[in-house]
Amino acid sequence: VRFLILGSSAGLGRALAEQLASEGHDLIVVATDTPDLQALASHLSLVHSVDVRLVTTDLADPKRATADVLRVVDDLRLDGVLAVAGYARDDDRGTLAGDALDRVVNVNLTSVQEIVAALLPRLVAQGAGSIVGFGSIAAVRGRGMNVAYASAKRGLRSYFESLALVVRDTGVEAQFYELGYVATQQTFGQRLFPPPADPARLARRISSALGSGSRIVYLPRYWGLLALILRWMPSRLFARISS
Ligand SMILES: NC(=O)c1ccc[n+]([C@@H]2O[C@H](COP(=O)([O-])OP(=O)(O)OC[C@H]3O[C@@H](n4cnc5c(N)ncnc54)[C@H](OP(=O)(O)O)[C@@H]3O)[C@@H](O)[C@H]2O)c1
Repeated sequence: VRFLILGSSAGLGRALAEQLASEGHDLIVVATDTPDLQALASHLSLVHSVDVRLVTTDLADPKRATADVLRVVDDLRLDGVLAVAGYARDDDRGTLAGDALDRVVNVNLTSVQEIVAALLPRLVAQGAGSIVGFGSIAAVRGRGMNVAYASAKRGLRSYFESLALVVRDTGVEAQFYELGYVATQQTFGQRLFPPPADPARLARRISSALGSGSRIVYLPRYWGLLALILRWMPSRLFARISS
């Protein structure tokens, strides 16, 4: 069994790489060209005796990233794609434009669609496989920050809703996690309530749900209730707590 993980050098993607390798799965790990990725790959293959291949690429360039991924995947059997990479910026307050806007939309949305589109036919042909995407509670309701990021994540959810229908009856599953706060570099140093969840714990949950069929799930689960409250909160109150 071999999984492709987009964004595996840090945070939840790294925790998923560690979890899946510890279960004996081979991996293709993807991130920008950082020493972290090389070190992670060497560590995982040594400790867990699994085959770990690297793709160093920039998901801000969807076409080139897809070509880089396909070159390494080659004719290897692939059992799943976990599109974990995400990119958010503090200055994303409605005025992001040009390259900065492209980067946010491409890393969070376009590259996922481009890479999944390239790999979907082979998953369907083998009659099995998991495609897993990651949204954010930042996209539950539009607000004055994370403007481009949230719109990309909302688009990603729509894409995964559609994907679940596209792969119905093919043996392939499309799973989408709406994530609450996770203890990674994205939340480091922030005082948040509820407190950020442990990525290793989430990785175990996500891994154990592979093969259980298409689904859209809030993680941690209580965020489902919080999202409902945020969505139906009176606008004035929401504006006060969300900017
Ligand atoms: N942390 C949270 O509280 C939270 C909340 C809701 C949703 N999420 C979502 O959950 C997912 C995981 O988040 P996280 O906090 O674990 O993220 P993270 O710690 O910031 O890690 C992001 C990963 O994506 C990779 N990445 C980012 N930009 C890339 C690019 N242009 N090309 C290739 N790889 C790139 C990074 O690798 P390099 O930078 O090394 O290339 C890294 O491995 C993301 O989709 C995020 O949007 C997170």
